[in-house]
Amino acid sequence: MADPIIIAVPKGRILEEAVPLLQRVGIDPEDAFADEDSRALRFRTSRDDIDLIRVRAFDVATFVAHGAASLGIVGSDVLEEFAYSEIYAPVDLGIGHCRLSVAEPAALAARDDPRGWSHIRIATKYPNTTRRHFEARGVGAECIKLNGAMELAPVLGLAPRIVDLVSSGRTLKENGLVEVETIAEVTSRLILNRAAFKTRAEVVPLVDAFRRAVEPAAA
Ligand code: PRP
Repeated sequence: MADPIIIAVPKGRILEEAVPLLQRVGIDPEDAFADEDSRALRFRTSRDDIDLIRVRAFDVATFVAHGAASLGIVGSDVLEEFAYSEIYAPVDLGIGHCRLSVAEPAALAARDDPRGWSHIRIATKYPNTTRRHFEARGVGAECIKLNGAMELAPVLGLAPRIVDLVSSGRTLKENGLVEVETIAEVTSRLILNRAAFKTRAEVVPLVDAFRRAVEPAAA
C-alpha cells in the first residue's frame, strides 16, 4: 500500500471542532487524538490510508507547504501572515470562528483615538499582517514578535498595544484590555500542498468530501 495521506490538525481549540468534522468526512480518529494529555503526535484513523498529526497552528502550514503533510486544517490568520505559494486553500471549513484584533488597556482606550495614530508599537504573533493593515492607512506599526501571552506586554511596558486572536473576549477581559479595532474575521480552512494535489489522485475525492461535509446540501 502507498504511504498514508497525512492530514495536519492544530492542537487546542480547533481540535474539538475538527473531530466531528473529520467524522462527517468519514475519517474517525483513534481516541488518543482528541486527548490533549496524550504525548503522541501521529495518529491512526478508521481509514488505513489516512493518518493525522497534531501540531501547533503555525506549524500546520509549514508541514503542508513542504509537502510533509498533504492536507491540513488551519486558521485564515496563519495563511494571511505567511502567504505560502505552495499552499492552496480551497475550502472554508466554517470552524474556529474568531477575529484578529487590536487591543489596549482600558485606561488608554478611554482617551485614545485610533484615527490620530501615526506610529504605534505593537506586541504580536502576527507582525506581517499587522504592518500591512496599518500601512494601508499610513500608520507605521513597529512590531515586537511574541509567540504567546501577548496580553502581558502592555502592563509590563513592552508595547502599549497588542494584536491577537479574540474569541470569547475572556483573555482580554481578565488582563484589563479592550478591543479597539478588528483587523480580520478568522475561520479555519482546508489547505493542500499544490504538488500533492496534482500527484496524489486520492487527495481530490478527499477535498470533495470535506466540501460536501461543510456546504449545505443543494436544494
Ligand atoms: C488564543 C489567543 C488568546 C485567546 C483568546 O490563544 O492568543 O490568548 O485565544 O481567546 P478568548 O477571547 O476566548 O479568551 P490560544 O488559547 O488559542 O492559545 P495560544 O496562546 O497558544 O495561541
